[in-house]
Amino acid sequence: VPNSRRPRRPKIGVFDSGVGGLTVLRALVERIPGADYLYFGDTARLPYGSKSAHTVAHYAVGAVHYLQDQGAELLVIACNTATALALSEIKAAADVKVIGVVEPGADAAAAVTRKRKVVVIGTEATISSHAYRRALEAREVAVREKACPLLVPLVEEGWVEHAVTEQVARIYLSEAFSEDASDADVLVLGCTHYPLIKPLLRRVAPEHIAIVDSAESTAQDVARQLQIEPPSSAQKSSVQTRSERRTVPQLKFFATDSAEKFRKMGTRFLGLPVEDVLHVDLKE
Ligand code: DGL
Repeated sequence: VPNSRRPRRPKIGVFDSGVGGLTVLRALVERIPGADYLYFGDTARLPYGSKSAHTVAHYAVGAVHYLQDQGAELLVIACNTATALALSEIKAAADVKVIGVVEPGADAAAAVTRKRKVVVIGTEATISSHAYRRALEAREVAVREKACPLLVPLVEEGWVEHAVTEQVARIYLSEAFSEDASDADVLVLGCTHYPLIKPLLRRVAPEHIAIVDSAESTAQDVARQLQIEPPSSAQKSSVQTRSERRTVPQLKFFATDSAEKFRKMGTRFLGLPVEDVLHVDLKE
């Protein structure tokens, strides 16, 4: 009977330089639980945040081809650095739709700011590419950009509620919100790792500011593209047992460095057990 057939599950490929993009996967899974996910973390070649556009584009295109070969029907570039430096090369190399994190983040920031002035923090490469600046200025929002290169290693160390991280964040944010940016009213988290220190950033940032997490905005954008309703209303309207079965996400992971290391660190970033990890060797 056609009515009893379950809707086809979308297969979403998520790409990142390492484990950080699992914050984007986490947001995707919350927003779209009924999908199959293929996550590729280029852990052997990270960090991307200190590399050139040419190198990042080369790495990202290789990974994206791999995800496509695995059957990804839509690609999410979770890495802010890869999106900022190489989105057009990735789109040119892909046969399926590609969604990066910068445009959804800029949309969310533009919707929230009243002062039309925001601060964006990210890696050195993301900030010097000015991708967020271009995206926000196109939406008539003024931007102060601030590279915060020390935050990625601190988060990877697990120091998400540590006095040192707090001190470092305090210095970066006081520089970011100085002078002509002192009346900015939004802080955009332009890096995969920053959602993990959102409570700390909330404490350290000026009180009146709103925090925009591009992981969440990207998940919303993907749901919109796939025409998927928020899970709460979808679940309410369908039979419990069936909807439960349908809404368990399938997660498969690929890592270019040790699978075991990815499993351990990934669980912390995803907030769910990371089990099915395959080590992948990409040719240079
Ligand atoms: N995933 C990167 C980003 O969002 C941070 C880690 C790295 O530098 O590779 O910019």
